[in-house]
Amino acid sequence: MTAELIDLTPLGGVVADAAWRDEVRRLVDERDAVLLAHNYQLPEIQDIADHTGDSLALSRIAAASEASTIVFCGVHFMAETAKILAPDKTVLIPDARAGCSLADSITGAQLRAWKAEHPGAVVVSYVNTTAEVKAETDICCTSSNAVDVVASIPADREVLFCPDQFLGAHVRRETGRDNIHIWAGECHVHAGINGPELAERAAANPDADLFIHPECGCATSALYLAGEGIVPSEQVKILSTGDMVAQAKATKAKSVLVATEVGMLHQLRQAAPGIEFKAVNDRASCGYMKMITPAALLRALRENRDEVHVDPETAARARGAVQRMVEIGNPGGGE
Ligand code: 13P
Ligand code: SF4
Repeated sequence: MTAELIDLTPLGGVVADAAWRDEVRRLVDERDAVLLAHNYQLPEIQDIADHTGDSLALSRIAAASEASTIVFCGVHFMAETAKILAPDKTVLIPDARAGCSLADSITGAQLRAWKAEHPGAVVVSYVNTTAEVKAETDICCTSSNAVDVVASIPADREVLFCPDQFLGAHVRRETGRDNIHIWAGECHVHAGINGPELAERAAANPDADLFIHPECGCATSALYLAGEGIVPSEQVKILSTGDMVAQAKATKAKSVLVATEVGMLHQLRQAAPGIEFKAVNDRASCGYMKMITPAALLRALRENRDEVHVDPETAARARGAVQRMVEIGNPGGGE
């Protein structure tokens, strides 16, 4: 089927059928592109991508890829990170409006003011930040290597950790550091997965493993449930999205309660078809991630848009922090 036969109006009306798949793959080849998808993308986007994975795995693939174009099916800071790591490549995101409430919770000016209050502190920023914030950062991290990144900093150095307060609390617990200051930002999707909801779902599913993303509002409650023996501690795992896939392949559990954005369930069900995966909160859907529709992907490939640009000076200042992130910790996270 030719491209002309695929209806692009309305944009959301494109059917992700065999013709769509053939056309997307043909255009990817024609453009010498690599198609990357985050684990929270729509199932049809995950399935057509060359690589689906977590933020760290996708950053590593973007840095190592020989393709001349990176098509990033994820949110804007992810595509921006790819551009920082691969400045000579064309980086496209199918909809540049796909933002992130967590990345919006700190600006470059706010970070500069915070640094001025703590001279000499090492700044660790989660990858969910703008290029401007990364340019003020010493080391970036993702959820899969945040603990390793902070553990790599000499114990006597103060640390400023931003912007996610729940991930920051997890890092403080795991590293046992008391000289870590945490910015009070959050992701509206993960913060909405709360402790009482988790406790209720765990009580109703006593044999289920709990896979909890450290950005979740319920992460502390999960550890409380384990600490009090309400749920056996070996059933409670705090994991990045990529580590959830690895753990799904390893667990002996027959059912798993998953606390993160619901797009994750697709990868988990593919990784371990014999396990029943249930969302702790099935309303936890990220509207930004879901802006990358099949129609938007097709349009991106046909029209070479939306191209992601990062001011070269900002990118140069951010690059060291992002490269350190890519070098530290967990090698897994994506297929
Ligand atoms: P990871 O893929 O690094 O676990 O991140 C989750 C996330 O919220 C990305 O937006
Ligand atoms: Fe940002 Fe939260 Fe959406 Fe991830 S799920 S992209 S952290 S708003």
